[in-house]
Amino acid sequence: MTYDALAGYCASKNIDIRFNEPMSKHTSLRIGGPADIAIFPDENTVPEILKILISEHIEYTVVGGGTNILVKDSGIEGAVVFTSNMNTIGQETDTECICVQSGCSLQKVINICVEHGLSGMEGLAGIPGSVGGAIAGNAGSFGCEIKDVVKSVNLLMADGDMKELSASDMGFQYRSAKIPSNSIILSATLSFKKDEPFEIKKRVTEFINEKKSKQPISKPSAGCVFKNQKDISAGRLIDEAGCKGMRIGDIEVSPMHANFFVNNGKGTADDFLRLMDAVSGKVKEKSGIILEPEIRIIGRTS
Ligand code: EPU
Repeated sequence: MTYDALAGYCASKNIDIRFNEPMSKHTSLRIGGPADIAIFPDENTVPEILKILISEHIEYTVVGGGTNILVKDSGIEGAVVFTSNMNTIGQETDTECICVQSGCSLQKVINICVEHGLSGMEGLAGIPGSVGGAIAGNAGSFGCEIKDVVKSVNLLMADGDMKELSASDMGFQYRSAKIPSNSIILSATLSFKKDEPFEIKKRVTEFINEKKSKQPISKPSAGCVFKNQKDISAGRLIDEAGCKGMRIGDIEVSPMHANFFVNNGKGTADDFLRLMDAVSGKVKEKSGIILEPEIRIIGRTS
């Protein structure tokens, strides 16, 4: 396996390609060892990139905003395909739908919704990350999930075909969706209801303020670490198990919301994983409930 074909194509198309790229630069936790290769294609070049990765047998991982992942200190084998350069938004004429590419930030979409009087996504205000990542994990907050506005999703399949899946084909559940393996979410059509821009803006501001008052949004984190269990808040369970303020190295269970583990500076993935173990052990001891991670843990196993 060589990276020559990939590097050659990237050079010919002016695609940003980096070798041994620290993932800590691309995650909201500011944690993660190096990816062997990091590539930043746009919508025109991503099909050829995928073709080369497959024909050259290079393993690949797709990363959106990097806000809901923990990348191991050992880094990532093969290539990380970033979607950040696939970031345009277009409104369908005469409909309440917009087409967004997967690398658009959720907040950019929400701003467009406010501007154009499109309601349905306000509950996601203040969630960092990209549309593709939000769809892959069915991101949610304040009783709203991204699935509520997804009409269809365009995927680039591992065999190079493009496929459009309707929302009902996406297998959306609480914090999960069924994305065919090794496919890349290219874009989605989101469907809204018309409302007054000032009403939408008001709700967006309320949700952001509520988030600020309950969650440690100014510190590096990956959002909620564990999934809620049968409608019981994992944060409450962790809090009741006495874990707030528990710390390993620079990773701390936030004293503000126990399901957020914050990086106080030099935290490592190893510290984070050990704290997850310690916290789930305490919760199991106290309540008998086994917590399930919400964050996606990626990286080489060695
Ligand atoms: N609670 C505690 N201690 C804590 C945290 C929460 O006792 O440290 C209690 C609260 O007092 C409240 C209940 O637990 O009675 C629920 O708390 P909260 O409203 O903060 O919601 P949550 O269930 O902990 C969920 C989502 C969040 C989302 C909020 C707001 C999950 C895992 N978490 O948290 O999503 O922002 O609701 O709607 O589904 C995320 O997924 O990354 C995330 C942050």
